[in-house]
Amino acid sequence: MATLLTRLSSKAMDNLLLKGKKIVLGVTGGIAAYKAVEVVSRLRKAGAEVHVMMTREATEFVTELTFREISGNPVAQDMWAKVQQYNVEHIALANLADLMLIVPATANVIAKAAVGIADDLMTTTILATKAPLFFAPAMNTGMYENPATQVNLSVLKERGFRIIEPATGHLACGVEGKGRLPEPAAIVQEVFDFFAEAKALQGKRILVTAGGTEEALDPVRFLGNRSTGRMGYAIAEIAAKRGAEVVLVSGPTSLAVPAGVRAVKIRSAREMEQAVLAEYDRVDAVIKTAAVADYRPKETAPQKIKKSDGELTLTLVRNPDILYKLGQHKKHQVLVGFAAETNDLETYARKKLEKKNLDFIVANDVSAHDAGFGTDTNRVQIFYRDGREESQPLMSKARLAGLILDRLKEQWDEMSEGIELFPKS
Ligand SMILES: Cc1cc2nc3c(=O)[nH]c(=O)nc-3n(C[C@H](O)[C@H](O)[C@H](O)COP(=O)(O)O)c2cc1C
Repeated sequence: MATLLTRLSSKAMDNLLLKGKKIVLGVTGGIAAYKAVEVVSRLRKAGAEVHVMMTREATEFVTELTFREISGNPVAQDMWAKVQQYNVEHIALANLADLMLIVPATANVIAKAAVGIADDLMTTTILATKAPLFFAPAMNTGMYENPATQVNLSVLKERGFRIIEPATGHLACGVEGKGRLPEPAAIVQEVFDFFAEAKALQGKRILVTAGGTEEALDPVRFLGNRSTGRMGYAIAEIAAKRGAEVVLVSGPTSLAVPAGVRAVKIRSAREMEQAVLAEYDRVDAVIKTAAVADYRPKETAPQKIKKSDGELTLTLVRNPDILYKLGQHKKHQVLVGFAAETNDLETYARKKLEKKNLDFIVANDVSAHDAGFGTDTNRVQIFYRDGREESQPLMSKARLAGLILDRLKEQWDEMSEGIELFPKS
């Protein structure tokens, strides 16, 4: 299958991806509304079924007639229109969409979507839909940079909507700056990428561990570490978006479990060991981002330890080495480890790769202020079993999560290429 797909041109593959997909495209009242015509045309040529909805203001810029002719479907605009004028009533557009795109998205519609206003067909549909939703903001630089717009965009991002970044350049209002609608081909490429991404890991089962562990000293105190779980949660979220079945074994964290991910909450290293081993046989890969305590107190006091004048000595004992155990019992699984170090990164990472029988290891220097624990960004080196290594620049944990999953997929592809279905006798 992989070879067949590589033989197809990427354009042909893109067209396969969009065949029969129902895309609802919302056009709002911005000067770039005319570019949405080409977006509709390209989507249709790629095999998608496109339904256009327009705000009243959008019809000041481009007529409904243009979109009707280009999309081959009636255009929805008036929430109060008689149903016989348009055979899909308003909420049905929200339900019908495999994907919804707002091109261009005005500052006004972005603001309404961020607070949940639903005072016309466009905003009602945006509020009602459960389909993946993309906004392509386009506006004057002042409007774009205004803190109100920036806050609204970050609210939408946090809720999982995708924002197609506006380009920088000459704007219709005569100024140079950020706020231009990207070219239609680039917008359509985002749609192709989305559908490609949604399938990339279909049929795969991935176990991700995340967060730190807590080793109880007494009923109120524990030994812990600074891991927030962000890296593991980002991997789990993106793996699920790419179609994998994901189980996330997580230490205590303040993060919300990503949509479509099954979470198993644990506290101590020993609880994590149990949870991970219970899932191990049925998964195709384990990505171990969790910061598991190497030691635990020998005794956990049944009552709160009272302070006294002298020193308090704690005796610590070794916790199980979960990753080592996974490496020892590895069958078909791909094992990915993380190494958080403050010095001699490469030496420690390579040692861990060997000792724990990993397929690759993602190593980062946690002493850097912009990478590792508690940051949104990370800068890593990846070391592979065959001696290869790659250094990645500083990037968001979400992007790094995508990159790690790309590398995991490459490992699977290599493994399946190595299997001869019909060996020559
Ligand atoms: C000529 C003209 C061009 C405009 N261009 C934009 C634009 O590019 N982006 C934007 O956010 N608003 C733009 N506006 C303002 C919007 O049309 C206005 O905020 C309107 O209420 C948006 O309505 P809607 O969001 O329901 O479509 C423009 C207004 C005019 C008169």
